Amino acid sequence: MPYSKITPLILDQLKQIVGERYVLTAKEAIEPYSHDETEDLVFYPEVVVKPADTGEVSQIMKLATEHHVAVTPRGGGTSLSGGALAVCGGIVLTLERMNKILEIDRENLMVVTEPGVITEILQNEVEKVGLYYPPDPASRGSCQIGGNIAENAGGPHALKYGVTKDYVMGLEAVLPNGEIIHTSGKLMKDVTGYNLTQLLVGSEGTLAIVTKVYLRLIPLPKFRKLLYAPFETLYDAAKALTQIFYHQIIPAACEFMETGAMDIVEARLNTKFPSRGKAQACLLIDLDGSNQDELDRQAESVYEILTKWKALDVVSADTKEKQDAIWRLRRSIGEAVKQLVYKEEDTVVPRSNLPELVMGLKEISKKYGITSVCYGHAGDGNIHANLLKGELSESRWQELSKKAIPEMFELTVKLGGNISGEHGIGFVQKEYLSIGVGKTEISLMRSIKNIFDPQNILNPGKIFPEAPVTPF
Ligand code: MLT
Ligand code: ZN
Repeated sequence: MPYSKITPLILDQLKQIVGERYVLTAKEAIEPYSHDETEDLVFYPEVVVKPADTGEVSQIMKLATEHHVAVTPRGGGTSLSGGALAVCGGIVLTLERMNKILEIDRENLMVVTEPGVITEILQNEVEKVGLYYPPDPASRGSCQIGGNIAENAGGPHALKYGVTKDYVMGLEAVLPNGEIIHTSGKLMKDVTGYNLTQLLVGSEGTLAIVTKVYLRLIPLPKFRKLLYAPFETLYDAAKALTQIFYHQIIPAACEFMETGAMDIVEARLNTKFPSRGKAQACLLIDLDGSNQDELDRQAESVYEILTKWKALDVVSADTKEKQDAIWRLRRSIGEAVKQLVYKEEDTVVPRSNLPELVMGLKEISKKYGITSVCYGHAGDGNIHANLLKGELSESRWQELSKKAIPEMFELTVKLGGNISGEHGIGFVQKEYLSIGVGKTEISLMRSIKNIFDPQNILNPGKIFPEAPVTPF
């Protein structure tokens, strides 16, 4: 059934719920909500609504259900898979006004928060009392906790500390029909029925709108060391990385950067990584802990392993300034690549297959004459492969990338991996879902969606290949 357009009556009712100033319809006012961080895709919603609390979210969803209007929930708008795009028009429901940290509970080591809090702000607040919330997507300065939950966001430090799901202990959420649900809470253990909390985490805003979050915290590690190692070939870098784990060392983060990616970010920020020489790829290894001697010993072991496995150099950045400068470059790669015409694939394999993945991705892009740059969370086996349009004509670019992408995904699956490690399926990867997920499993997922959202009004046009798209 086609979605209803936003009528003057619906607009009036939205204004009654949230107040007139929190209902936007003017083109320039809704422009910032017409795109996220995915390629150059633009879909204008008909209206943007900014609720202040759970009750208002619930009333908006009741209204949307009554009139069969599409609703796209939105956090910081930093999705890389089109998760926040209003591809069926209707309402964009932004959680940006629900941005209060409600409680930092130092006995239970939990933070209770609204979903619109910016991830880095939450991290800084808990750090003030010596606590740590590790999930750190590159966009942490602008993404929001609610969006991180929708995408089960990761980031470099997921390697040692896990991804968002490992910290979400309970949720309050609004169902598409407006009902409010509560799942678990400040509990370290809870096996009372199905785990609805974890069903919602990573559901890409298609099942419910998260309105309150219980996150686990851990003590903040006191010391940190960052090693940076260039390698002559991509294969050498990927192989050396696997040896760190073979020796049973788990760094806090272990990042891989092909020099093509480093060139792009260096040019954009007009600053340089140290000691690149003739390297084709570099590793960034972050070590942390609360015992300085132990950390020094670990750094020494990693140094020896990297040197033995063909590192051209191993540079230690032990001051906070030096570490921050290197991290800033690393975290800006995605943003720098986005200035070009590109498509990004978020491949993930068991880390032992990383060398085969990296070499295979390069071979496929070369075969189609497409420039590619790879970087990402190598310790997690999670590589962001960016295809660049470069000098290709638009039609050639579309034709060749359409052939290369499924081949890359098939390689990933053949290596025991899957087609998205941390960016989600959303809008741009849905046509490839069946490469990574079996028929029966897709059918189960579809049934779950149908139970939560029988009218398919919540974030429609996402995840499932046949999901309708009726741009406004
Ligand atoms: C990263 O690792 O930098 C992020 O996932 C962002 C990106 O790939 O654009
Ligand atoms: Zn990433």
